[in-house]
Amino acid sequence: MNLLIISGSPRKQSNSLRIAQAAASFLNQSGTSAELWDLQQRPLPIYDGDESTYQQPEVAAWLKSASQADGFFIVTPEYHNGMSGALKNALDFLGGSYFQKKPVALACAAGGGKGGINALNNLRLVIRGVGGLVLAEQCIVDKNDFDEHGRISPEVLPRLEQLLTEWATLSRLLAKK
Ligand SMILES: Cc1cc2nc3c(=O)[nH]c(=O)nc-3n(C[C@H](O)[C@H](O)[C@H](O)COP(=O)(O)O)c2cc1C
Repeated sequence: MNLLIISGSPRKQSNSLRIAQAAASFLNQSGTSAELWDLQQRPLPIYDGDESTYQQPEVAAWLKSASQADGFFIVTPEYHNGMSGALKNALDFLGGSYFQKKPVALACAAGGGKGGINALNNLRLVIRGVGGLVLAEQCIVDKNDFDEHGRISPEVLPRLEQLLTEWATLSRLLAKK
């Protein structure tokens, strides 16, 4: 089984990446490996539909990782009530064939003050558009949920881990290989 974790932030020192890394480490400890694609470290060009853009090595690698994935765990930052432009752009490269019958779990890094839900609703709508099986459960981690070392607080971590366990179980059940 191949699992893909996507960190959707273009920022350095990103909380989305911290969530994605916590997810990868939790899965790893439970014996499940997952690839982490960090859109800050591995940005993609702007989607323009051109064949030459698809042939760029990083785009080809992105398509390969997505096509091999049996499930996606997507972490988006909340920017102005929506997902990041970097994440939406990355998803625009992927059509329905990448997501059909694959479980997709969502999490969000928000700014505090009860943010996060709008970005998750926005992302949920887009994943529905590409035919992914979006889990009902989701997880918001806001900036107050991190300690000074960037670790997620013990109040929030179990929610994230429960979501990951459910997602990995469903992905395994539906995996082709
Ligand atoms: C351009 C921009 C827009 C933002 N808009 C919101 C918002 O609408 N709601 C919110 O809760 N936080 C907002 N924030 C705060 C971010 O959600 C917060 O900084 C979060 O950590 C971003 O994730 P990242 O660290 O992975 O980039 C915004 C931050 C930026 C840079």
